[in-house]
Amino acid sequence: MLITVYSLLLVVFVATSQSIRPHTFLSFQTRLNLVKSLEGGIQQREKFWCSIYGMDIPVKKLKSGFSLPEFGLGTWQMGGRESASTTNDAKDIAGVRSAIEAGITHIDTAESYGDGHAEEIVGEAIRGMNRKKLFITSKVSEENHTCVGIPASCKKTLKRLRTDYLDLYLLHAFSTTCPLKEAIEALDALVDEGLVKHIGVSNFGKEHLKEAQKLTRHTIVCNQVHYNLSVREIEEKGLLAYCQKNDVLLVAYRPVQKGKLLEEVPEIMEKMCVKYEKSPAQIAINWLVSQQNIVTIAKTSDPAHLKENLGGIGWNLTEGDIELLRKDYPGQVFISDVIALG
Ligand SMILES: NC(=O)c1ccc[n+]([C@@H]2O[C@H](COP(=O)([O-])OP(=O)(O)OC[C@H]3O[C@@H](n4cnc5c(N)ncnc54)[C@H](OP(=O)(O)O)[C@@H]3O)[C@@H](O)[C@H]2O)c1
Repeated sequence: MLITVYSLLLVVFVATSQSIRPHTFLSFQTRLNLVKSLEGGIQQREKFWCSIYGMDIPVKKLKSGFSLPEFGLGTWQMGGRESASTTNDAKDIAGVRSAIEAGITHIDTAESYGDGHAEEIVGEAIRGMNRKKLFITSKVSEENHTCVGIPASCKKTLKRLRTDYLDLYLLHAFSTTCPLKEAIEALDALVDEGLVKHIGVSNFGKEHLKEAQKLTRHTIVCNQVHYNLSVREIEEKGLLAYCQKNDVLLVAYRPVQKGKLLEEVPEIMEKMCVKYEKSPAQIAINWLVSQQNIVTIAKTSDPAHLKENLGGIGWNLTEGDIELLRKDYPGQVFISDVIALG
């Protein structure tokens, strides 16, 4: 009788303690394993997925002290493409909120996404949230890289995002028409004014990155670039090695190549999936974040994809497997199909 009472008390204690504060009891990997082992029904699995939510995303820290979570949310195709569309607003707003509830803090957007509407979606999604807990990046389009254009664009972006500062502001790509010196001075001025905490670039080749680093009074903390298992331009052009050596983070965009990496799964990927008990999306994401100075951002408005993508972090492929995938992943291209490094 006494044993039965003790057993009951033990069961109640374990059950309540895990449902109240699971993170303090279980490591991330243990929680993932628990989810996997719960083959007993969708409801139970959902319950345990909820206990994973609110996870702390690991961060990558530079020697300069700048840090970014190794996984963030992209917003390209939210709010339209080149022009605004409100068709999927409800789903996209919910998608951003779910990502934040799941523990994502880095949200990446740009003034050009949906002609500004992606920023409005983010602004709506974060309304009422603790701004300090979020890290918001936006980008200024090449045609606005002037001393007048950059502050004007930044103020419009802040208004759409309903915030009074950006954590990170990037030159979206190298401008062939506006002088880089003027653009960098304008970015520096935004930091001085407190409208922007950090500055960086995107789609910059090694030489232009070096030039930007020489011109700035503040630090170029990152270069956001197209990089994944199949798109290897940054390796080919020495940018990866340069950034790793010179304390610049690479924010790898399009980690699942918009889903294409998941459609036709090559044998090498199948083997990795079996070895690590992960999906192709999780291997693709992990291959990026397991490398020095690399973080990534993936866009999704789909809760199932979000869960899957989050399973790509919190663990690491071995050095050997990272290099095997680097060498043998089939169909590699050495120039981005989005925008070549400028
Ligand atoms: N600096 C630049 O020039 C530049 C260029 C491109 C992108 N970016 C940034 O980088 C972010 C990420 O890149 P991206 O959006 O182009 O490509 P991505 O993240 O590789 O792929 C996003 C697409 O894949 C789908 N997806 C995501 N996870 C999935 C999963 N687990 N299974 C199946 N489908 C999945 C999404 O659809 P669902 O919503 O249905 O999940 C979406 O259509 C962008 O959103 C943007 O913020 C920057």
